[in-house]
Amino acid sequence: MKQSASPDLIVYFGGEYVPLAEARVGILTHALNYGTGVFEGIRAHWDEDSAELFIFRPREHYERWKQNCGILRIDVGLSADELCSITVELMRRNRFKTDLYVRPLAYKSAERIGVCPDDEAAFAIAALPFGEYLHSDNGLHAGVSSWRRVEDNAIPVRAKICGAYANSALASDDIRRAGFDEAILLNEDGHVTEGATCNLFMVRRGELITPPVHENVLEGITRSSILELAHKELKMPVAERPIDRSELYIADELFLSGTAVGMAPVVRVDHRQVKDGAIGAWTRRLRTLYSDAVHGRLAEYRKWVLPVYGTLQRSTPKVVDLEHTSVA
Ligand SMILES: Cc1ncc(COP(=O)(O)O)c(C=O)c1O
Repeated sequence: MKQSASPDLIVYFGGEYVPLAEARVGILTHALNYGTGVFEGIRAHWDEDSAELFIFRPREHYERWKQNCGILRIDVGLSADELCSITVELMRRNRFKTDLYVRPLAYKSAERIGVCPDDEAAFAIAALPFGEYLHSDNGLHAGVSSWRRVEDNAIPVRAKICGAYANSALASDDIRRAGFDEAILLNEDGHVTEGATCNLFMVRRGELITPPVHENVLEGITRSSILELAHKELKMPVAERPIDRSELYIADELFLSGTAVGMAPVVRVDHRQVKDGAIGAWTRRLRTLYSDAVHGRLAEYRKWVLPVYGTLQRSTPKVVDLEHTSVA
């Protein structure tokens, strides 16, 4: 899914809340020419039962963003808590009551020619209504891309640097034109890294496996949430280890994870069925747990969500009792 926004949308730009139509940068901006920006992606989910909007792990996202900005020597100048407050205020000003995607973007802002960056930087935050990124309810058909993942010593992909996403864009474009739903990229060693915009998980013999962070993958916040849910709530053995391409073809279950895609099952890979071609049992259970967690329905994981309208103090959302869910 591609999402554009109304020009009346209120965004945070230049230290102020302004209509999107007024948030503009010049064509000589360093980041626009050389990809020297660092972005984040954060989700907020609307829960009809509690009439509340829950931002998922915003502090973790802003901590990661600030760290990653440091790789490009950009200092956003605000704490993660201050950035969370701006985000809440943005949602309130737009009176959002729907699922959202939040896009913080810090960038080298000098307007001149010349690749060597200086210290001029700026940042903006936009939040916009956003539904499903990939229609994955029936499972996806993923394809291994002929484009290799960018190496850490070329452009660190853990950093969500704008320029590195040309790699994801090339892979996504090719794979979609070839009829697949999402690209899987290998690194220069031939190991599986991740999807173009998401991390990858495989289940083999009841074990949940994902590539380690040193294999040129983004250190996904959805990834770490899923590892925790699988380990603590489903008692699954979990492993972070390299995955060979051919393991994708013999996996019991496969799925992708990320802020935009959520938890997206993969039922075919490179024209081969994953197991019997149906969404696997572990994937279904994890998907339900993850959805309950992001909607603020799991008391133990309420720490992961930030309510925007503060209804939690006034009413208690329908809370799922983990002891009595069919997750074992
Ligand atoms: C390349 C890539 N991998 C993985 C992810 C998933 O990370 P997260 O779960 O933190 O959104 C993303 C999401 O932005 C991504 O762009």
